[in-house]
Amino acid sequence: MPVIAFPVEVNQTEKRCSLLPMNVKAYTMLGISVLIEKGLGKHLHIQDDEYISAGAQVAQTREDLLSKANFVLSLHKLPEADLSSLKQTKPIVISFLDPFNETDYIKQLCQQQITGMSMEMIPRISRCQKMDALSSQASLAGYVMMMTAANHLHAVLPMMMTPAGTLKPAKVFVIGAGVAGLQAIATAKRLGASVTAFDTRQVVAEQVQSLGAKFLEIDLGQTGETGQGYAQALTPEQMQKQQQEQAKCIADSDIVITTAQLFGRKPPVLIDKKTVESMKPGSIIVDMAAENGGNVEGSVAGGVVEHQGVKIIGTGSWANGTAKHASQMYANNLFNLVSEFWDKEANVFKLDLQDEIQAGCIITHEGEVVNKMISDFYQAQQQNNSKSGVA
Ligand code: NAI
Repeated sequence: MPVIAFPVEVNQTEKRCSLLPMNVKAYTMLGISVLIEKGLGKHLHIQDDEYISAGAQVAQTREDLLSKANFVLSLHKLPEADLSSLKQTKPIVISFLDPFNETDYIKQLCQQQITGMSMEMIPRISRCQKMDALSSQASLAGYVMMMTAANHLHAVLPMMMTPAGTLKPAKVFVIGAGVAGLQAIATAKRLGASVTAFDTRQVVAEQVQSLGAKFLEIDLGQTGETGQGYAQALTPEQMQKQQQEQAKCIADSDIVITTAQLFGRKPPVLIDKKTVESMKPGSIIVDMAAENGGNVEGSVAGGVVEHQGVKIIGTGSWANGTAKHASQMYANNLFNLVSEFWDKEANVFKLDLQDEIQAGCIITHEGEVVNKMISDFYQAQQQNNSKSGVA
């Protein structure tokens, strides 16, 4: 029987895991044996016994787990030290692999002949929505960012008319109305705030308005999106215009949440120091992109800083703030990916590099980088490096 292994996440701050007891039965019904590392669900207060009762087995050691695995499923990529334990079975590893940035790690997977599937590379097509972990985690991130901002603000969000006076609703401005931004908007609306949003993709204006928020109109000329629904990078002139025209809305806001990302590239800097200084002391900015370079000048990855009375929150790992539901959604994303390609009769995963989903998310196979987007990216990077004389 093929073995799917679920290791404990080694990242010290990680609370999520990639399997809940409720998923075990679903895997076993496909004919797969589920093996977990001791303490897999400890941060969610799930005991090993609950996994065992659901039909899983617990490996004695991490090495034992990895050496028996035909598949290794996790959230974060396995540490390099773990890869040598995979020698015997050369399993398929599935996790967020961050292939645009983790060039050396991807090389290691190739050297060890490991097939690596990257959850952030699942294509954005209808067939994949149930496996789309970027979306499931981003949606919860949007919720957590809004709740974090509300906790830091020394004011209520809804309008309150009381005998002691009327309290005005807080003003929230969300920049970037993708998956995370829309959830932040919806959460702010539920909390009763007055919400405005902006995105360079004009198509989302309607989605913002359908949540009861205002869409800030800025005429940037041609913007557009990629075939997968991601934003195109703006020109420097467009960036300048955006910054100028959103400045007043930012200065007026009690909470600003920035979620702007560009797939496979550094996120754009949308708020400079001067604009931060234009906000009222006590206001809050949440920078979703702080860990990847930041949308806000002065934000600090993993931390909260204060600049002239304005708090800039860049704690990151947002979905960790709702670890139970984030784990539930991520574990379901993984199961949906495996079951989509599981051949029940032959009891094997049908590897097919021509399939649109697999071609999108398999990065390495049989010692090669087989993903076209990633190999093109590495090639371009190499050409740039050789032009600029970097070894
Ligand atoms: P993302 O995380 O790459 O970006 C977040 C948002 O930032 C995007 O809406 C983007 O337009 C915006 N942005 C980029 N530069 C900006 C700037 N300078 N100023 C303001 N906003 C800026 O994108 P995300 O949230 O992962 O998805 C984007 C879209 O992809 C979704 O809204 C949806 O249309 C599409 N999608 C489609 C799926 C499918 O299965 N068909 C699944 C998930 C998303």
